[in-house]
Amino acid sequence: MFREGMMNHDSAKDSSNTTGIWEMLSGSGYSNKAIEYYLNQPNMGSLSDADQISELTGPCGDTMKVFIKVDDGRIKDAKVQVLGCPGAVASAMVVMELAKGKTLEEAFTIRDRDVYRILEEIPDKKQHCIRLSVKSLQKALDEYSRATVITNEGDNDANF
Ligand code: FES
Repeated sequence: MFREGMMNHDSAKDSSNTTGIWEMLSGSGYSNKAIEYYLNQPNMGSLSDADQISELTGPCGDTMKVFIKVDDGRIKDAKVQVLGCPGAVASAMVVMELAKGKTLEEAFTIRDRDVYRILEEIPDKKQHCIRLSVKSLQKALDEYSRATVITNEGDNDANF
């Protein structure tokens, strides 16, 4: 199952769970910033009016499903469903955040180091989670661009 929404921190039980998760991740080498992204999951979910939905599975088996809404060549909204580890969740949240408001061309230039800079620190063995997040966005951009070109060519054909 993909993670769909925000974690619920309402009950005392959740709060003690959150503390446990925080301590565990912090001890594994995640920065406070990265843990916040993992727990708050600001861009987790789907878009019912997405212009593009693309899914990518990494060699580790973790999977991301990216939803983008494009308006006049600019990414108006971006969400992602993640089936994966805390590193995958945290970095996917950052990639969506970086993509929002950018033109397609600008979004193509988002690099692993841009995501790492925002996360501040994640364990070395989790660097590939950032890679998967960036590649998932690039796949969505690529597939959207191809589909748009094909549609436009179709429109042109219809004019003759
Ligand atoms: Fe594969 Fe995190 S372990 S993306």
